[in-house]
Amino acid sequence: MNKKRYKAIDKRLITEGSQISFNLFLTNETKSAMSLFLQSDTAVDGNAKVKLREIETLYVSEEDEERYNEYVAMHLQSIAKSSDIPTEQKARLVYQKATEAIDAMFKNPESLENVKNAQPVVNSFIDIILHDHSAVESLMKITAHDYYTHTHSINVSIYTLSLGSYLGIEGKDLEVLGMAAILHDLGKSKIDYEIINKNGKLTDDEFTQMKKHPALGHEIALKLGISDERILSGIRHHHEKMEGGGYPDNLKGDQISQFARIIGACDVFDALSTKRSYKDPMSSFESLLLMKQQMAGHLDMGMVDTFIKMLRKQGQGKS
Ligand SMILES: [Fe+2]
Repeated sequence: MNKKRYKAIDKRLITEGSQISFNLFLTNETKSAMSLFLQSDTAVDGNAKVKLREIETLYVSEEDEERYNEYVAMHLQSIAKSSDIPTEQKARLVYQKATEAIDAMFKNPESLENVKNAQPVVNSFIDIILHDHSAVESLMKITAHDYYTHTHSINVSIYTLSLGSYLGIEGKDLEVLGMAAILHDLGKSKIDYEIINKNGKLTDDEFTQMKKHPALGHEIALKLGISDERILSGIRHHHEKMEGGGYPDNLKGDQISQFARIIGACDVFDALSTKRSYKDPMSSFESLLLMKQQMAGHLDMGMVDTFIKMLRKQGQGKS
């Protein structure tokens, strides 16, 4: 049998009640041929779901692969809510979709469509985090790889959503907070690639360039028609410092919005605890200790303390 033209997929990602826009195949007993299981443009009813239990693996043809990927992206939230799929696998899947959404957003930050596509990703993270408290641990395992702006945006939104939810932010407000976090570094799409990806300390000139990203991101967001002040301030003010001296507006204390303070703390935490090409990662504990001992003038210590409590509760504080 020529299996090259088919790709095995996880049958648990096919959700009941959904409509598929691709053909689903299965192999016969001797695995010598593919036969059609469900035709494109068919609804996945209860009957099909029952039949699926008997089937080991489902396949899509190569030419349908893109449509299948779109389907998974569209149904990400039902997948995130599904109790059939282990948390770790859900976390991995949503993380992968998040990476794709962010890649598209950074490639073309002027596209409102791309920015809107980040919302289901944020909502799926919320579903995973709220429905399974061990999920943050699974998500953190995925976040512990090499660092670049796109994964950084995802990591910061995961930490921000956990911290926000721990602080009692919920519902629509939590969705807005997640969007602010995922968009916080959007302005970096306008900074020289070499500066963004430099291995090591930036020169003064490069740092001056880099410091423009919050205001640039704010500008892009305004152009896109984003009007929620909490998102706009999350983007513009995540590098402000509690005692002043941050950028771009040299704000102080309460002048910095709650969302920007949450994102600011999670931003520093991710930068310290993630591996970068020129430095080893610190453990969660070491990162938080450094933030607590050395960044009192910079970060909102209430946020840092809550972060410590949250990770301790999740069993992460011992690392
Ligand atoms: Fe930033």
